[in-house]
Formats: sequence, C-alpha cells, structure tokens
Amino acid sequence: MSTVDEQKRASALKALEFVEDGMVVGVGTGSTVRHFIEGLAALQDRIEGAVSSSEQSTALLKQHGIRVLDLNAVGPLALYVDGADECDPFNRLIKGGGGALTREKIIAEASERFICIIDKAKNVELLGRFPLPVEVIPMARSLVGRKIVALGGQPVWREGVLTDNGNWIIDIHHLRIVDPLTLERELNQIPGVVACGLFARRTADTVISAGELRKKR
Ligand code: 5RP
Repeated sequence: MSTVDEQKRASALKALEFVEDGMVVGVGTGSTVRHFIEGLAALQDRIEGAVSSSEQSTALLKQHGIRVLDLNAVGPLALYVDGADECDPFNRLIKGGGGALTREKIIAEASERFICIIDKAKNVELLGRFPLPVEVIPMARSLVGRKIVALGGQPVWREGVLTDNGNWIIDIHHLRIVDPLTLERELNQIPGVVACGLFARRTADTVISAGELRKKR
C-alpha cells in the first residue's frame, strides 16, 4: 500500500512523460504539482519554460531554475498539468483547495491538453463532498453568500485568505452536485464571482490517478 504522497508523486512522474522538447508547460498549484515541478527541473534544458498558476508555483519553478513565462506572451499551450480536490468518472473536477482556481481555470482553457494528477482518494462518483471554492470580489461577499444559500449550499468565508488576484474565497459546503455544468454556469453568472472551482465545462483530458492513466466513463 503506497502512501498518499507516494501516489501523488507517482502521478506527477507519469505526467512528465507527456512533456515534449521545446514545450511551454502550464503548471498548476499544490502538493501534487510540487512533485511535478521537481521532476520538471531535470528537463528544464529541453523545455522553453512554464506558465504558472500561482505565486506559490512561480516561486518553486524559479527556485528550480525553470523559466516562468507570461501566458499573454506565449499564446495557447500544448500541455497543462495540475492536481484536483475531487475528480468524477467523467473527468469533471473540483479545484481551488489551494485558492488558485481562477488562474488555473485560465490556463486550463488556454491549453490543448489538460492532464490532471491525483491520488486515489480524489476519485469520487459525485462531486461535492469537498467544499466547492468560489473566488469573489470582496465587496460582493455577502451578496454571493445569499445567492449560494438560494442554490442550496452553505457558504463559508475562508477568512484571512487573500488570493493572488487580491480577492476572497467562499467555500460552499453541503452540495450534492448532480448537474455540475449547470451549477458552474449559475455560479459564474452571479455578479462578483470571479471564478468557481468547478471544472465541468473544461474538464481534464487525461487523469492520472496514483501513477495510472484512468479511463473516462
Ligand atoms: C489548488 C488546487 C490543487 O490542485 C488542489 O487543491 C489539490 O491539491 P493537492 O495536490 O495539494 O492535493 O486546485 O488551487
């Protein structure tokens, strides 16, 4: 039996096999991605550089000598590698446990292939046990909170946390997300919501769970 961290590392190492010479690689955020960045360091002379989804990952990339590039300067990316908090059988995800969901969503959208690297515990039949993060403009916090209650969720402000974009995070508890696509659309339409951590429209293309490529249902 491997530990959770060993499973994360195995997934990260498997994802390195998809990195090709000359690529600009999109890089996510979190403890699984940390293993990916460590592995990428050994390939740094073969790649053009990386686009980072957070200040935390930017610092790590630089620490390992990997060139960090601006998404605006490099255009569409061939590959994005990131973790997730939950992943359903259709590769729909909850992300944002680390608060980097907005930049993660931007890079996922800008990438041809999104490889999601997870440990086994992240695999779920139905999304929603992990509280769904939503990034909000600070002045809209209570408005968004009331709208979330109307949608059947329990909003909890991640007090004291400021995102890299200078915003706040609300985590939505007690959701059974039976229609992720509709919920993502509804949340996106609330004024003051910057992004929600549901990746139902732009799902992962490939999921690697504990080092194994997982089949999509
Ligand atoms: C950060 C994320 C992470 O990918 C997610 O929280 C998983 O993190 P970890 O790899 O540490 O389990 O979405 O915003």
